[in-house]
Amino acid sequence: VGKPIGIALIGCGVVGTGVLRLLAEHRESIEARIGSSLEIRGIVVSDPSRERDPLVPSALLTTDGEALVRSHDVDLVVEVMGGVARAGALVRLALETGKHVVTANKALLAEEGVALSALAEQKGLDLYYEAAVAGGIPIIRVLREGLSSDRVRAVYGIVNGTSNYILSRMRSAGLEFAVALAEAQSAGYAEADPTLDVGGGDAAHKLTVLARLAFGQHVRTEHVAIEGIDRVSRVDMQFAERFGYEIKPLAIAQRLTDGRLDLRVHPALVQQDAALAGIHGALNAVYVHGELVGPSLLSGLGAGAGPTAVSVVADVVDVAQNLVAGAPARRAAGVRDANAKVSVQPIGELVSSYYVRMTVRDRPGVLARVTGSLASHAVSVEQMVQQRPETASSEVAATLVFLTHEAREQDLRAAITEIDASQDVVSPTNVIRIVDQA
Ligand SMILES: NC(=O)c1ccc[n+]([C@@H]2O[C@H](COP(=O)([O-])OP(=O)(O)OC[C@H]3O[C@@H](n4cnc5c(N)ncnc54)[C@H](OP(=O)(O)O)[C@@H]3O)[C@@H](O)[C@H]2O)c1
Repeated sequence: VGKPIGIALIGCGVVGTGVLRLLAEHRESIEARIGSSLEIRGIVVSDPSRERDPLVPSALLTTDGEALVRSHDVDLVVEVMGGVARAGALVRLALETGKHVVTANKALLAEEGVALSALAEQKGLDLYYEAAVAGGIPIIRVLREGLSSDRVRAVYGIVNGTSNYILSRMRSAGLEFAVALAEAQSAGYAEADPTLDVGGGDAAHKLTVLARLAFGQHVRTEHVAIEGIDRVSRVDMQFAERFGYEIKPLAIAQRLTDGRLDLRVHPALVQQDAALAGIHGALNAVYVHGELVGPSLLSGLGAGAGPTAVSVVADVVDVAQNLVAGAPARRAAGVRDANAKVSVQPIGELVSSYYVRMTVRDRPGVLARVTGSLASHAVSVEQMVQQRPETASSEVAATLVFLTHEAREQDLRAAITEIDASQDVVSPTNVIRIVDQA
């Protein structure tokens, strides 16, 4: 057994505590794989006096991240603190002072991942981040290693467990969005402030990281068209089901035939027999289409102490094996030219089919005017249902739901703007994209 490998643990919350537990419980098999022992040199937290799991060694707690990261007996910094500013400063300091880094921080990677990877490469250090996307699912390894010889055409993911849980409960229990969200919060899935989850921001961070690996380009979160799941209501679920679809929170990255990238996060109707339609509750999944390998699906737990710790410690094992072998930084960062312009298809140019739900007034000729508006913007209707309200109302005549043929998004939006501005509709029309390939 070689010289012990010194680890600085930055953060000891859900994931950090999970890492300590995993290291304690699997120590023997992990050290056998590495051929050396792992030693925690210090643990950075914001409040050392907080009550913690008894397995957290309180003598190692500190608030002085800089001193710990700089210390000479640290070989590897494990950042599971979260946030961008302070975590970023500590990760940069680690790389500048010759320490390898493992991080679970998708927000940091989305913002600074390319610069941090370049710094790691320049310093001959490893930067690993398997836990940052889809928790326990080894999708980073799959893209970085398993499929590195193929050309990825598309990645479709369910990468936010909270959103998937909410939409799954809306469907299975017939809950409204707000009720399902409250349930997700009391089950411990959703944060007190769920904006990043249900608004799509968290999924966009993860998609940014995946798209860089898949396409080797410097994708940024600003390139991603983002829509949250809060636009989905129970009636949309019910109508989708009548048409043979489910509504899923998707993150999509694809390379179009003209070379541009299509990058988006939004709820989508997917056919009930599609691969991603079967991913329920808080599960995550990523469906990758490679040019030669074809489609492949990975699914599993996307969050939680145990699954996330598995990915963090798998990275620790990789880095430690590299250290023992004297061969760190073997793998390229993924992004070929950080300064090359990324060509992204504007969302208005997307060609897709759509689910459109309108609530219209009881007036003569409404249906003709609505379909006329759609037709005049080159949107043709594939299927339609009309439902009268259960309780008689003088105002609302019906809910009209259309599934369109493929249309250009900006054409559809123009038609909807025109229709919504008329006296025919009672409330804003809801549009949800349909995704057939997932
Ligand atoms: N939770 C998951 O399932 C999951 C899954 C995948 C990835 N991740 C990522 O893993 C990271 C950690 O998530 P988590 O759920 O473990 O978070 P968490 O439970 O909130 O823990 C954060 C830890 O960092 C410490 N900390 C926060 N800000 C600090 C600061 N400014 N200075 C010093 N210490 C600070 C906290 O100290 P105190 O203990 O004193 O409060 C706490 O120990 C995030 O990047 C997250 O996105 C989480």
